Amino acid sequence: MANKTVSVFFCNSCGYESPKWLGKCPACNEWNTFVEEKLQKTKSGEYKEKSTSEIVKLSDIKVEKGERLETGFVELNRVLGGGLTKGSLTLVGGDPGIGKSTLILQMCDKIQCDGKVLYISGEESGSQIKMRAERLKINNDNILFLSETDMTIIAEKIKEISPSLLIIDSIQTMYDPTMESTAGSVGQVRAVTGRFMEIAKRQGITTVIIGHVTKDGAIAGPRVLEHMVDTVLYLEGERYFSYRILRAVKNRFGSTNEIGIFEMRDSGLNEVIDPTQIMISENKNAPGSVVVCTVEGTRPMLVEIQALVAQTPFGMPRRTATGLDYNRLTLIAAVLEKKVGCSLYNQDIYINVVGGIKINEPAVDLGIAVAIMSGFKNKTIRPGGVIIGEVGLTGEIRGVNFIDKRIYEAEKTGFSYCVIPKSNVKNIEGKFKIDIIEAENLTDIMKQICE
Ligand code: TYD
Ligand code: MG
Repeated sequence: MANKTVSVFFCNSCGYESPKWLGKCPACNEWNTFVEEKLQKTKSGEYKEKSTSEIVKLSDIKVEKGERLETGFVELNRVLGGGLTKGSLTLVGGDPGIGKSTLILQMCDKIQCDGKVLYISGEESGSQIKMRAERLKINNDNILFLSETDMTIIAEKIKEISPSLLIIDSIQTMYDPTMESTAGSVGQVRAVTGRFMEIAKRQGITTVIIGHVTKDGAIAGPRVLEHMVDTVLYLEGERYFSYRILRAVKNRFGSTNEIGIFEMRDSGLNEVIDPTQIMISENKNAPGSVVVCTVEGTRPMLVEIQALVAQTPFGMPRRTATGLDYNRLTLIAAVLEKKVGCSLYNQDIYINVVGGIKINEPAVDLGIAVAIMSGFKNKTIRPGGVIIGEVGLTGEIRGVNFIDKRIYEAEKTGFSYCVIPKSNVKNIEGKFKIDIIEAENLTDIMKQICE
């Protein structure tokens, strides 16, 4: 009886558990996502016996001071909300090859912690990590390395060394030998993460787990991983661009709005403290090119948007958006067609955000509209402008939040004028030296800023 195994089915997408296979997941409505896992029945109840938890008054719980570990990267600290929280479990996700291992190894070198750092890799051998460290000019006695994938051995080693920071690279390579399924499967990933969580909480070890992401953007295997850990960070970017954006999707100890920007160079990832400089191309004054201001978290960023509008050779016009939401592009194109009278029905529209970053804020709508109109009319807009505003379905230009921050960023960077929604004008009167152009409707705006 002791070793009786039962089959359980998990949804690969959301982690829903079912005793039988299902074609469609009742929780997330995805098709064909169920995979079988063999679980050992004896495992249940094991943890309950060990449990030492007791009920205490909330007012009696003491918060330990100095609980953050300074990571040595300003950008990473901000995304985390002030550094890695001691004893927490952080998941760093991203496409393979995006730079997760590089970022974390650099962090291990720079981080200010009292004890040892233990880097466990199931993907690379000691000499591969050493080669990477040499490339990154890291030679640090405090970093210990272990190449291992067996969870039982790992647990022993952690106990023996008792590091203050633990890195697991990557969770998909680790396996629990008491389970039948292979490493990287849903059950394994869940079980192993559960073990690491227990280790992190019981022994007070700050843990960072690296995980690969599937092509549709979820951490490979189950989303449930995201529920289990304290913080989830994603490192994203286009593979052939050198910029990488670090984003918090979940953070128990800080905001999830902040982003960190890095640049991948020969010597590893470098922080980009002033992102505005890199997001604007050299060829500023061309038809279809517009500078907008987006606010990510608390930080304003000037970004260039380029639109190419060309007559379609086929019956159906194409719409392509890189770095922007495709639906917003089609919506704005429809508004321009209906309200401004631009006949875009036979025009292909390609929109691109310079620098390979993604923006999904409505405050860039007006910029997109102006870029399309400028591309369509093949006229440049007056140089030195930043376009701010949201476009409604009736063609009205709506006010945006953080208007001060956006204008201040434009002024600081040396732009000469800002187009802002009319409803925002009264909030900023007399505050700025930069020229302010009021945008009331889409037709007039082009007359005001086109050469
Ligand atoms: P890596 O950290 O191994 O990615 P991940 O762990 O997310 O799979 O990064 C690998 C890529 O980074 C690889 O394409 C080479 C590039 N790279 C640099 O450009 N410069 C460097 O200094 C390093 C270490 C890597
Ligand atoms: Mg790696």
